[in-house]
Amino acid sequence: MYFNMKLLRLCKLVFLLSCTTHSLFSQQRQVHPEQQQVQFEKQELEKQQQQQQYEQRERQTRRQQRQQPGQKQEPSLQRTGVTDFNRGWKFFLGSNPRAFAKQFPDAKWRGLDLPHDWGVEGSFSNSHPATFSGGALPGGVGWYRKHFNVPAAFKGKYVAIDFDGIYRNSEVWINGHFLGKRPNGYIAFRYELSRWLRYGAENIIAVKVDNSKQPNSRWYSGSGIYRDVKLVVLNPVHIDHWGTSVLTPVVISEFAKVKLQVNVVSPSVNPQTVTLKNTVYDRDKNPVTVSEKVVTLPAGTTTVNEELEIEKPHLWSDTDPYLYAVETQLLINGKVADTYHTPLGIRTFVFDAERGFVLNGKEVKIKGVCNHHDLGALGTAFNVRAAERQLEILKAMGCNGIRTSHNPPASALLDLCDKMGFIVMDEAFDIWAKKKSDFDYHLDWAYWHKRDLQDQIKRDRNHPSVFIWSIGNEIMEQWGTEADTAGRKITRELTGIVKSLDGSRPVTTANNEVNSYNNLIQSGALDLIGYNYNHNKWKEFHQTYPGKKLIATETTSALQTRGHYDLPADSNIIWPAAWDKKLINGNADFSCSAYDNCYTPWGSSHEQTLQAFMFNPVVSGMYVWTGFDYLGEPTPYEWPARSSYFGIVDLAGFPKDVYYLYQSVWTDQPVLHLLPYWNWNKSQVVDVLAYYSQADEVELYLNGVSLGKKKKEGEALKVSWKVKYQPGTLKVISRKEGKMVLEKTMHTAGAAAKIILSADRSDLAADGKDLSFVTVRITDKNGNTIPDADQPLSFKLAGDASIAGLDNGSPVSHESFKGNKHNAFNGLALVIIKAGYKKSTVKLLAESPGLSPATIELEIR
Ligand code: GAL
Repeated sequence: MYFNMKLLRLCKLVFLLSCTTHSLFSQQRQVHPEQQQVQFEKQELEKQQQQQQYEQRERQTRRQQRQQPGQKQEPSLQRTGVTDFNRGWKFFLGSNPRAFAKQFPDAKWRGLDLPHDWGVEGSFSNSHPATFSGGALPGGVGWYRKHFNVPAAFKGKYVAIDFDGIYRNSEVWINGHFLGKRPNGYIAFRYELSRWLRYGAENIIAVKVDNSKQPNSRWYSGSGIYRDVKLVVLNPVHIDHWGTSVLTPVVISEFAKVKLQVNVVSPSVNPQTVTLKNTVYDRDKNPVTVSEKVVTLPAGTTTVNEELEIEKPHLWSDTDPYLYAVETQLLINGKVADTYHTPLGIRTFVFDAERGFVLNGKEVKIKGVCNHHDLGALGTAFNVRAAERQLEILKAMGCNGIRTSHNPPASALLDLCDKMGFIVMDEAFDIWAKKKSDFDYHLDWAYWHKRDLQDQIKRDRNHPSVFIWSIGNEIMEQWGTEADTAGRKITRELTGIVKSLDGSRPVTTANNEVNSYNNLIQSGALDLIGYNYNHNKWKEFHQTYPGKKLIATETTSALQTRGHYDLPADSNIIWPAAWDKKLINGNADFSCSAYDNCYTPWGSSHEQTLQAFMFNPVVSGMYVWTGFDYLGEPTPYEWPARSSYFGIVDLAGFPKDVYYLYQSVWTDQPVLHLLPYWNWNKSQVVDVLAYYSQADEVELYLNGVSLGKKKKEGEALKVSWKVKYQPGTLKVISRKEGKMVLEKTMHTAGAAAKIILSADRSDLAADGKDLSFVTVRITDKNGNTIPDADQPLSFKLAGDASIAGLDNGSPVSHESFKGNKHNAFNGLALVIIKAGYKKSTVKLLAESPGLSPATIELEIR
């Protein structure tokens, strides 16, 4: 069909040329200028009509093709020849200078499946070189080895191994042969294995991971092969690693033009003639357009350009993340030699100085959060379900944006964002040439930054969820005067690298220097000006940077411990007193108030930030620091605290109260949330707060007596009452036009009596990866959660599953995330159950001395 299209285009060209020739001759006959104009307009009109007829015919042909019965081909939507290579590795923690060798005896090493993070298996201690800032967990050197058989049939194929990320300083050997080194812990890479393999025999991959020199990170980095590994077995002539680029330069309601670039590798010195067939499938796997091209490939890599059209495209957006998929088949002598899939989300967007972010023609606020890459009790070992759960929790809050602070994420996170509708800011670096800690990336900068950035862009540029490239966070080179040229130079260099690989997205940096001379911004190379914090300066942004576009790359940095409240709620606690001061007057139990009245001196409360955001149309979006708590950086405390207080959701995934503030502002659903709990000292005056939406007012009752109606006044995003405590029942009702919308009740909890278990999912896949997150609640005999319960819990599991992690969300706990015992914290704990490979019914039993135990059943299918 592609040939027909080409033929038609050729006819059109001949026709247009004949028109031009005709008009040239006419000129020779000295036609009057007015006549000439009329003639020209007539020709233009004819051209337009021709074009329209042509496009109509094209669309009709495609429609007919689609409608032919039996035409539907099921695409596999899996890259052929690329398989999961995570199972059956051997691991040793410690140095072992000979462990790269083929014959090295590793029989006694521990067996495990990847992804793996050895740091999270260790004990918390402030003597680990990462310190409390790095999560107080161990680093060190670790070795991984995998024995695998390579069938004789692989001889002559292209065989490679793909790592999506190893933290850090990895070195890889195949059968004792050194393949290479990658210092950057967040970058994906491939090594070709073909020529070093033994075919029809056993082969050994050895990987050394060196995370011994610390601190090298301002947060918990994890250690090990913590992301996916894949084995790649392809035809020698194949589509290259990250071998496609897809763009949609024209998107109108009638059609979208898809520009595809495919890089094909041919090792043969003899030219190879191949056919490239591209099929775009819609979400239901129906083919919507096809192209075919015959190309002759010289040795090396050849870029093949293609253009396709999709009729009446279904656009991708944060609320309707509709995905097409481009299947590229490489045919040699009519046989499929390679198949490659590229996700395709069709959308138009601009960042506008006045209107902010405009997606598919509509103004959309990016309501985002920043997240680090750890998954709480799982450490940094990437797990799709754990990441999906985080995104589900955030989506339900009304969040539509993720900033992958401050590094490239796992590829599978971007797959999830494509599917679930998040506007991603994909960030490259936290450090350039100037250091933030002694052993960080500044040591690798000179040699690696170009390669690392290129690889990030090539890997991630086809994800429709990626909208912004950030080339750095709070980069040291931003500071200084005009005389310091380094910041401007590097900004221009990095922006140039990004643009050479993807000109379709804006480039930004996240800056905390927004008051005077910022070298990065002054480079003039950035498309978006990124402000970290400084929400009071948003209003005067256009005075500072006339005509520029603003994105709030990082905001808030407020502090909360789930379930802890410091009275009174209406006095703000700024901890520490200044960014360069230590906290001297914190709480004895290392807690921060969850009333949204505690924040850092560079930050602001969630409510203050949201107010500024709602009323400043020039701010295209904001990314709150942070969506989830993360390991490390326990501001405002130091050891014994070891994880952050910034999260809207705690480390275990339990929402803090402000979660509902966002939900009430960022979603259209009716929300009513009451805080704090209702167990206080008699006659104590307690601040009671409510977040609500889709209602005109709320009314609070204590033991059946109304304490008055309230409505949000002015820019306020909550209502509050000062209530003299009496045990009993606190109830709040929201009403719209006098009719009840929602009601929430809270009872004074009695003595701890029982455990209640609830699972986020009770049906798991038998794939050795799927997870169920089981919430453990300690309650009184009537099921009221005990607000400060911290009982020891122990767990027994039967069936083909394991406990992948235990947590309770406390930033101070030094209990291990592994094993089968954990204390509750402020009433709750979490058990993460991981499915095995067999179908079975799994039973979890939770016990605690003096409490009625609880069980829950899960099905592994
Ligand atoms: C920012 C920084 C983040 C985190 C945050 C804590 O300045 O970009 O990485 O450190 O402060 O408030």
